[in-house]
Amino acid sequence: MALWGGRFTGAADERFKRFNDSLRFDCRMVEEDIVGSIGWSKAIRDVGILTPDEQARLEQALNELLSEVRADPEIVAASGEEDVHSFVESSLIRKVGDLGKKLHTGRSRNDQVATDIKLWCRGEIDLLKKSVTELERALVSAARRFQDVVFPGYTHLQRAQPVTFSHWAIAYAEMFDRDYLRLCSTQKLLNRCPLGSAALAGTAYPVDREKLAKDLGFDEATRNSLDSVSDRDHIMELLSDASISMVHLSRFAEDLIFYNSGECGFVELSDGVTSGSSLMPQKKNPDSLELIRGKTGRVIGHLTAMLVTAKALPLAYDKDLQEDKEGLFDAVDTWHASLDMAALVLKDIRIRTDRAETAAKGGYSNATELADYLVKKGVPFREAHGLVGRMVVYAISQNKPLEDMSVEEFRQISPAVSDDVYGILTLDSVRAKRSAKGGISRERVEEEISFLEKRLAERG
Ligand code: ARG
Repeated sequence: MALWGGRFTGAADERFKRFNDSLRFDCRMVEEDIVGSIGWSKAIRDVGILTPDEQARLEQALNELLSEVRADPEIVAASGEEDVHSFVESSLIRKVGDLGKKLHTGRSRNDQVATDIKLWCRGEIDLLKKSVTELERALVSAARRFQDVVFPGYTHLQRAQPVTFSHWAIAYAEMFDRDYLRLCSTQKLLNRCPLGSAALAGTAYPVDREKLAKDLGFDEATRNSLDSVSDRDHIMELLSDASISMVHLSRFAEDLIFYNSGECGFVELSDGVTSGSSLMPQKKNPDSLELIRGKTGRVIGHLTAMLVTAKALPLAYDKDLQEDKEGLFDAVDTWHASLDMAALVLKDIRIRTDRAETAAKGGYSNATELADYLVKKGVPFREAHGLVGRMVVYAISQNKPLEDMSVEEFRQISPAVSDDVYGILTLDSVRAKRSAKGGISRERVEEEISFLEKRLAERG
């Protein structure tokens, strides 16, 4: 049943109805719409629109509807209504007759939909926070499991300096931790209730909006009705949180795809998260990670779409705003699935310690150590840098690593080198020296892993 029609003599064109109706996707907010409606019934009872008995009957019928849609969510979309708000109201009228028609007093679908979306985002953020936390846990647990595995570290995708697998894993734990904090901040900022703003100018009944807000679990009521019904900042923020986090996930995926490649072979993904080729029997492809990387574009696209939809929209509500939902739902689902998949990939990942360590030793990644060594011997750094460059060229020409050069060979290029040079060229020495906060030394990485474990344990 349409919620309007009195002003119309002709029926809506079928094609327009299909174009206009939002039930197909906004049915996802049916629980929020029912909860918001119960809140509103109390608010208008308190100003005498409903008697306490009428409100109780409405609340009971709405709770009944809630159980029905929980038991069979399909009934919502199958109802053929214009949108979720029409579905709830029509269902209510079917249950309690004319009394159901009183519920919409002083309310508009504009403040109703704004409230529903906020309630939906708030609930979804709780779930997303859990998934982000699980991924952080998976990273920290992998860091713990492979604590001493040395990995090549890259800049420009050239082997630069050795790091450890743990250090790499907790780098991503840091990123996802910021994603978690971003979700908390988005959730906090959106938690102001627009209900009672009506169509745009505020409800014409002296409703206690602060009480209503508290009733629905909001911190407070919004302060301006025009803003309340047209604000979609929280959707932009959640999409931005999703996009930033997907960028983190995509880089994580790309790193592992590279490490898992035949060329590197530093890690091996489990059979559970890889797939084969229909043609080439030898293949085991990192589809899980490629899909995470691929889906990132889609989520960023939804953020862009929301921003562009809202730009240049006149106050207050315009139907353009109905376009806020499909992208939001898809982005949240995609982000969620990607977070869970990333955690799954880490669960059974194998590290090929020997290959990683050999690569970490190769590529002259201890050249910086040699330059620092010369500095200690009194050579100015810029000069040391040049001398070590020449040592690397020489070692390449001899097809051997720096640590296999003899003291005589070193001294041909710089007489500052003596026997004690070999100690500083080992992986152990490289790690041990980087003991300032955030560095790769054993103690620092241990400290960081423990810190993260503690923080995640506190999160519960
Ligand atoms: N389906 C609409 C939306 O998602 C609900 C609000 C309708 N408001 C209106 N004035 N037609 O935005």
